[in-house]
Amino acid sequence: MRERSPRAEAQRRRMFFAGKVVLITGASSGIGAETAIHFAQLGALLSITGRNKHNLDKVAEQCGQPKPFIITGDLANENDVKNIIDSTIKHYGKLDILVNNAAVVKFGSIETPSLEQYDNIFNVNVRSVFQLTTLAVPYLIKTKGNIVNVSSVAGLRPLKNNLPYCMSKAALDQFTRCVALELASRQVRVNSVNPGAVPTNILRNTGLTQEQIKIVFEQLKGGHALGRNGDTLEIAKTIAFLASDDASFITGITMPVDGGWHVMSA
Ligand SMILES: NC(=O)c1ccc[n+]([C@@H]2O[C@H](COP(=O)([O-])OP(=O)(O)OC[C@H]3O[C@@H](n4cnc5c(N)ncnc54)[C@H](OP(=O)(O)O)[C@@H]3O)[C@@H](O)[C@H]2O)c1
Repeated sequence: MRERSPRAEAQRRRMFFAGKVVLITGASSGIGAETAIHFAQLGALLSITGRNKHNLDKVAEQCGQPKPFIITGDLANENDVKNIIDSTIKHYGKLDILVNNAAVVKFGSIETPSLEQYDNIFNVNVRSVFQLTTLAVPYLIKTKGNIVNVSSVAGLRPLKNNLPYCMSKAALDQFTRCVALELASRQVRVNSVNPGAVPTNILRNTGLTQEQIKIVFEQLKGGHALGRNGDTLEIAKTIAFLASDDASFITGITMPVDGGWHVMSA
């Protein structure tokens, strides 16, 4: 067994990511923004996307140099999705890592159906991931790259009044497993992280006020075995781990990063 100092480990990780092109969706806020900053610190070259240019600019500033390449676009729009890949390849000439992170949450149950809401959630959380990944795969095969999907504990366990969102994340988890199997022979790994509750802007489209959102996140602490919510860096570090060569023998997993939520509701 080789001895490695923590410093040598950090250096090795940086060397792995140096020059790697990482495309992150939903990088204008929350987990995606943190992941962009974390990958930048590891020396990666970034393409960051979202609809909000102002927020993307702020994230890019925090990433420092080299400045991330910013692409604005709505993932519910097929042309915008295509442009995300096309302009990344035009800018960098290759793609090493795709982080499918963007998603939307809206509350709804089987007794409060809205097909419009269902379509919007599935368009952003599932359809755009399918489209973006299909467009990215030829480039990932060339680099023997990998994909990290950001799912949720909601893909693994049911949550009340969150039906379309839970369904979308369960679909994403099966997408992870299927695509991992399909691309394994090409040496492209595909994994997912499944976070527990992490205070971000994710509940902004639920109709709740900021005060109510604060209360919800406070209440969600109790759902985790560790008795607290996660933070964005805990998720970003796990995404980077799965994207790194430390995870070179890992593909097709849905990794809970949820303070033990999945054990609590088992
Ligand atoms: N926070 C949690 O408790 C939690 C728990 C489990 C899983 N997750 C997952 O973590 C991921 C990140 O969520 P977050 O918590 O960081 O939420 P967030 O702060 O709301 O960030 C969501 C990101 O998705 C982007 N986005 C949403 N709709 C979009 C669209 N139509 N087109 C393009 N971009 C769009 C947003 O960008 P723009 O607004 O700029 O478009 C934003 O950058 C999601 O997949 C979520 O399901 C979160």
